[in-house]
Amino acid sequence: MNLIDQIKQHARQNRQRIVLPESYEERTLKAADIIIEQGIADIILIDNPKSVGENARKYGLKNLEKAQIVDPAHYDKTEAYANLMVDLRKSKGLTKDEAIKLLQNPLYFATVMIKYGDADGEVAGADNATGDVLRPAFQYVKTLPGISVVSGAFLMFMKDTSFGDNGLMIFADCAVHPDPNDKELAEIAVATARTTRAIAGIEPRLAMLSFSTKGSASHEMVDKVVSATQIAKAMDPSLKIDGELQADAAIVASVGLKKAPGSEIAGKANVLIFPNLECGNISYKLVQRLAHAEAIGPILQGMAAPINDLSRGCSVDDIVDLVAITANQALGPK
Ligand code: ACO
Repeated sequence: MNLIDQIKQHARQNRQRIVLPESYEERTLKAADIIIEQGIADIILIDNPKSVGENARKYGLKNLEKAQIVDPAHYDKTEAYANLMVDLRKSKGLTKDEAIKLLQNPLYFATVMIKYGDADGEVAGADNATGDVLRPAFQYVKTLPGISVVSGAFLMFMKDTSFGDNGLMIFADCAVHPDPNDKELAEIAVATARTTRAIAGIEPRLAMLSFSTKGSASHEMVDKVVSATQIAKAMDPSLKIDGELQADAAIVASVGLKKAPGSEIAGKANVLIFPNLECGNISYKLVQRLAHAEAIGPILQGMAAPINDLSRGCSVDDIVDLVAITANQALGPK
């Protein structure tokens, strides 16, 4: 069974409630139909039941009647959700009227639903930009204890299975936080180690990447990576992590041996932590295109509940896979 099938199987065994706020969107509804049919998750749609019914008929979808359909305009908890929002955004001066208005936006409604305990996770972004999906999540679901930044990891399935664990590597942050400081970079490393265990099901060996290996260059950008490595070790002393390492020292055994002798990570890394978003985003796309690696993600990590953002070019299958991954995040380590 491949990793995605294992992830779907794990989701089926303990069904989580996943909300799909873009409930008017064709690929989202088609994915919801498949997810319900395959028992991968319990689906919550946010729209009025009449529209969902019309779309179900239009697209020939038979399973959507088994979804929970929540219409914010006629929902007995909307008032309670607004009160919760006002409470959570007290310091920002949010009024009840403003909260009720925000709840008309399904992306806000979905995140508050999770915060209130009525859903376990969310997948959106087939029809909305990354920032619009993430902002409500940052504001209402917020981050896990000890983590202040959300970041995005990719599962990279390499054609050359000599890399990582049988070709599987995890790259982060490739999607969210443009310019992390040393503490934030350490948090990204710790969060990525958790994702590696919970989703990829493998033991992480983290390389903190730089343009320098073990002092070969001196620059404040190198100092940041060295400091981040120390902070990450202090945050989780059980982590197998080393840095600063250049990419070749991290993944090629002979280079690792030469540039970082004695390192338990050099030449054997299965998790690559990039020093900033430019490096991470450019690298995953180059590896995907030039090395024909399959890239699954971004899997958002560090959030207090799993919320994942799709690419607007996503397929129905991408949505199904991301819902299964989100359900696994909600379940925690296997
Ligand atoms: N983690 C947790 N909270 C965050 C983060 C983060 N990484 N970034 C911002 N926040 C919080 C802020 O603290 C703030 O909270 P507050 O309202 O309680 O004070 C709130 O979110 C809004 O903060 P802003 O600084 O106004 O953030 P903004 O909404 O402008 O931007 C965003 C956030 C959209 C994620 C921005 O960092 C961004 O655009 N990142 C790049 C996303 C991107 O384009 N990725 C590449 C494409 S994805 C791909 O290729 C797979």
